[in-house]
Amino acid sequence: MSAPLANDTIDPRTVEDAAALLRAGKLCAFPTETVYGLGADATNSDAVLAIYETKGRPRFNPLIVHCADREMAGSFAHFSPLAREVAELWPGPLTLVLPLRPNAGLSDIVTAGLDTVALRIPDHPLARELLRAVGRPLAAPSANPSGRLSPTTAQQVRSGFAGRVPVLDGGPCRDGVESTIVKIEGETVTQLRAGALARSEIEAAIGRKVANAQHDVAIAAPGMLPNHYAPRALVRLNAEAPRAGEAYLAFGTAPATGQPLRNLSPTRNLKEAARHLFAMLHDLDALGVGQIAVAPIPDTGLGEAINDRLRRAAAPR
Ligand code: TXA
Ligand code: MG
Repeated sequence: MSAPLANDTIDPRTVEDAAALLRAGKLCAFPTETVYGLGADATNSDAVLAIYETKGRPRFNPLIVHCADREMAGSFAHFSPLAREVAELWPGPLTLVLPLRPNAGLSDIVTAGLDTVALRIPDHPLARELLRAVGRPLAAPSANPSGRLSPTTAQQVRSGFAGRVPVLDGGPCRDGVESTIVKIEGETVTQLRAGALARSEIEAAIGRKVANAQHDVAIAAPGMLPNHYAPRALVRLNAEAPRAGEAYLAFGTAPATGQPLRNLSPTRNLKEAARHLFAMLHDLDALGVGQIAVAPIPDTGLGEAINDRLRRAAAPR
């Protein structure tokens, strides 16, 4: 007879099992098209507090509220005509920051006391089923300890939290980087975080420019601390080739190297590179290398989100 593992959590086998955990005020990690989320009932303050505790996340950093449909989203925020137009891009890897409807039932810990709320309708069949089964909004940050790489597989969630969090396994995530976050104020749309939906795609859909607040982050995305998304290894950017002792994360043609090597996309496809980014950084990190050198990545389309995450991974700690 084998002894039960320490810190062993039983993973839900079905969406219904996961929904029952969440309705009972427990945490459960679940897949989305971007990364795995660490979910809790967004109307239950104790459940939401457990997210902050489990991640070691600063309380002032608000969470994204995931909704089953537009009707649920509309009950928590005011949608201007422009906001409704942007929300036509849902379901998908896009988060909208909108004026909060006070007293609509969300725990104020979710919004960290702000008068805005970040909402998203994810485009992943299990996430959508889960939201419908729970019948309530789910607060869900990426399912990693604060400051570490976001998980794109259930196994990364388990190892990040040493098995202390149940995970609904939906296989590897389609997009691999977090959602794009935009704030809508009056007639302006401002990107707070580059993500899996390229800014150019949003601009094409709404027929107007999306401003970039990336370098003005103090205002609105407190989670965008410079050294978010750090692997254990140090990271060196824009490296055409690895130096002695460095692992290499290539993009396109990979140099011959006797050292650990991963290739984000041999064909230089940015979508593929985004999908592989965190998983390959996780992989190289798990080998225990001291430094990871990363090939230059073009800054167009999804390259904007990839380069944003890489700069954070390489920021001085
Ligand atoms: O793809 C994603 O967005 C994933 C999946 C699970 O949905 N979630 C995710 O959550 O990346 P998280 O907590 O790692 O990042 C949420 C970001 C944080 O930087 C937070 O500061 C910002 O959203 N945020 C949340 N509410 C906000 C608000 N009211 N105003 C401005 N920024 C907000
Ligand atoms: Mg995160």
